[in-house]
Amino acid sequence: MTREEWTKVDEYLGRIFTPDDPALQAAIEASEAAGLPDMAVSPAQGKLLYLLAKSIGANRALEIGTLGGYSAIWIARALADGGRLISLEREPHFVEIARGNIANAGLGDRVELRPGDAIDLLPEIEAEHEGPFGFTFIDADKVNNPEYFEWAVRLSAPGALIVVDNVIRGGRVVDDRTADPSVRGVRQLNEMIAKDRRVEATTIQTVGAKGYDGFLLARVV
Ligand code: DHB
Ligand code: MG
Repeated sequence: MTREEWTKVDEYLGRIFTPDDPALQAAIEASEAAGLPDMAVSPAQGKLLYLLAKSIGANRALEIGTLGGYSAIWIARALADGGRLISLEREPHFVEIARGNIANAGLGDRVELRPGDAIDLLPEIEAEHEGPFGFTFIDADKVNNPEYFEWAVRLSAPGALIVVDNVIRGGRVVDDRTADPSVRGVRQLNEMIAKDRRVEATTIQTVGAKGYDGFLLARVV
């Protein structure tokens, strides 16, 4: 099987499970027109984030890495009434595009975009008692994944879910000699989580329009 075939299947699934969604389609188009990298989650993955957040009745959610706001729209839509998503993004241009996409989706009052480096913003979120969060999505630079995960656990309510994107990296995760800092970040994350008694976790490999990768799902005990 090739990426071309995985893409066809993703398109087929999209037509069935995530049809005609003008706000999401506009977000994809505006992100592309603005030159943002094509790294947002796929529609099927976006809907999975939505279903997970909705299943646990999450009211407060945290996202690390907004990009163009595509996943933020999915997560914000899943939140219980009065819910709020705080989404952190380092790149000012991405924040600007995401702000437009989220407003266009009618979610401007549910999503708070915080520009800056998550490593600096996460302690502020703790100090301001913005948590605890019921749902966290980590999808930023991969090098800092271990630190982002540690913060996510600290800021989580009991029973909270934490999803980490891109933990398989085309299968390179098994290479214990890799010099690639993003793969090393993912490997470090796995080893850390395996020992972490505060969470129960698993990782699922995925193929699709975005290639071969996977996501980690952890539940805070
Ligand atoms: C990359 C990052 C992502 O979040 C993603 O979903 C795909 C690729 C990357 O940095 O290469
Ligand atoms: Mg990603």
